[in-house]
Amino acid sequence: MTDWKNPPKLFIPGPVHVLPDVLEQLSRYTLGHRGKEYSQLHEETITMLKKMLFTEQNVFISTSSASGIWEAAIRNCVDHNETVLSCMCGAFSDKWADVVKSCGRNVEELRAEWGQPNTVEEIDKKLATGKYAAITLVYSETSTGVINPVYEISKMMKAKYPDVLVFVDAVSAMVGMPLHFDELGWDITFASVQKAFAIPPGCTVFAVSNRAIAKSKNVKYRGYYFDFQEFAKSAAKNQTPTTPTIPHIMAINYQCHKFVNEGMENVWARHKEMGDYVRGWAKKNFALFAEEKYASNTLTTIKNTKNINVGEVIKAVQQKHNTIFGNGYDKLKDVTFRIAHMGDINMNDLRELLGWIDAELK
Ligand SMILES: Cc1ncc(COP(=O)(O)O)c(C=O)c1O
Repeated sequence: MTDWKNPPKLFIPGPVHVLPDVLEQLSRYTLGHRGKEYSQLHEETITMLKKMLFTEQNVFISTSSASGIWEAAIRNCVDHNETVLSCMCGAFSDKWADVVKSCGRNVEELRAEWGQPNTVEEIDKKLATGKYAAITLVYSETSTGVINPVYEISKMMKAKYPDVLVFVDAVSAMVGMPLHFDELGWDITFASVQKAFAIPPGCTVFAVSNRAIAKSKNVKYRGYYFDFQEFAKSAAKNQTPTTPTIPHIMAINYQCHKFVNEGMENVWARHKEMGDYVRGWAKKNFALFAEEKYASNTLTTIKNTKNINVGEVIKAVQQKHNTIFGNGYDKLKDVTFRIAHMGDINMNDLRELLGWIDAELK
């Protein structure tokens, strides 16, 4: 019997498995968030995050999950008479378009079929109308396991539409796949820490361009909790506007030391190796849901070509090995299943898990 005190090892695409040494960081003595010890922790952590995201602009930490920054991006950087182009290709990018609407902004939807990416050509065609102040884009769509060609899209946008703001959800991409914020010319990107940072859920790392901060100054009714002006003011003192989740920031600091020491190219290569391995297994036994060149290196969505009972296999693996992987998301439930390979999961963990699934398939 498993219960919350003896939980299964997680291979779902977030929250992911967290190592004991990372968990220990969450039980350190707390600090006063206006004291110099906190500022030291904050400054050290932000400096490492900037290196990891290849930016000299602004990096903030929000005590919210990533959905908060979906809303923050819109409320801070899109004026009430402006229109957003929402690039949609799965459950999470679809949801972000809903959030734009719920913030009272105009939105136009650019939909790709689930399993396909949003393409440079389609985005270019839409932007050529000159109607849009900003676009929303997901880097790795966690429901389908598809990555958008964000480098190509960004290159096209920098060359042809430099005034359109670029907001990128990197929730299941950041740390696991290349992200050069300044070179890409993005205005906002973010990831909650329960994905490739391999920390329990509770906060979100986000980067904001200088021009996005400048724009937000003149946008009315930005609200209080996610006001970028307040984040920027507090950042100048190495603080956050409100009491942050200090234990998480200690864990981010700990993980960032590891990532910076390993080198981001090596961290990305490690994720690619895990992605290749799981994709190889998936192709041998089933089929990939995403075309391979658009497949994410942090999770794999597998087409259930053998019509197995996904729920039963997950249950059997859990009962025998106290480990779970993910069913398909939303309308992809049962017709696909998902295996996460990010954060502190390693090749041995994956070999073990896939072996256990193999045993259930015999
Ligand atoms: C791509 C993507 N965006 C946004 C979210 C929402 O993140 P959170 O649950 O941290 O609010 C998720 C959650 O899995 C996600 O995968």
